[in-house]
Amino acid sequence: MRKKIVIGNWKMNKTVSESIRMVTELKNLLSGKQDAEIVVVPPFVSLHPCEIALHESSIMLGAQNVSAFDHGAYTGEVSAAMLLDVQCEYVLVGHSERREIFDESNQTLNQKLKQVLEYEMRPVLCIGESALTRKATKTFDFLQTQLQECLRGFVEDDLDALVIAYEPIWAIGTGDTAEPGQIQEVHQFIRDYLEKQYSKAMANMTPILYGGSVNQGNADVIMKQKDVDGVLVGGASLDAEHFVSIVQHAQ
Ligand code: 13P
Repeated sequence: MRKKIVIGNWKMNKTVSESIRMVTELKNLLSGKQDAEIVVVPPFVSLHPCEIALHESSIMLGAQNVSAFDHGAYTGEVSAAMLLDVQCEYVLVGHSERREIFDESNQTLNQKLKQVLEYEMRPVLCIGESALTRKATKTFDFLQTQLQECLRGFVEDDLDALVIAYEPIWAIGTGDTAEPGQIQEVHQFIRDYLEKQYSKAMANMTPILYGGSVNQGNADVIMKQKDVDGVLVGGASLDAEHFVSIVQHAQ
């Protein structure tokens, strides 16, 4: 059985001192044994302080982004090696905000995936359609192109650590969550795609998460969908009690 994964993407929120306070609170609230994998994803500058604050906790660390390059003269970039060094186990790749605001293409994301996999962290490849694409009934074509282009050149053995997150753009930060039926339909489509392109084993093994206005009220029904292996939470992950109550639904 696939273990549930709950990831809190803090986006560009919380200073270093706020981040330390937050993970300390989470560490206290989630001190017992957890069935789900719990991952917090603070801004880059808070990663090392959070690593220290989370010492001896089962809560894991993730990064919001990574450079497509290995090292060198790339001012402002943060490499996969640097993330690994501060004990990051997960890295978000291709969040829709990175794609839209910072113009990240599927080709760039393919390079980023290579970096994360090479340094043996788990990439969380984010895909998702806009409201316009959904309205034009082009959702599945669009998602298939994202998967094809981002995963180009990888063989099944390269992708053991892959996590996929379905985040419809129209549901992010809007309070407008996708219907459980819509979510299951897309997750099933992604799993079928993995089976077609790679194998049944790979389709069964790869966690597929949902993100987009997840909160303590809807997490339970979303995570009960057959092909939903967890959630990627934005806004509701900024409050320790809200995040913990979402984690409890994953148990
Ligand atoms: P919200 O939960 O705030 O809609 O954000 C979702 C998201 O983008 C997580 O990566």
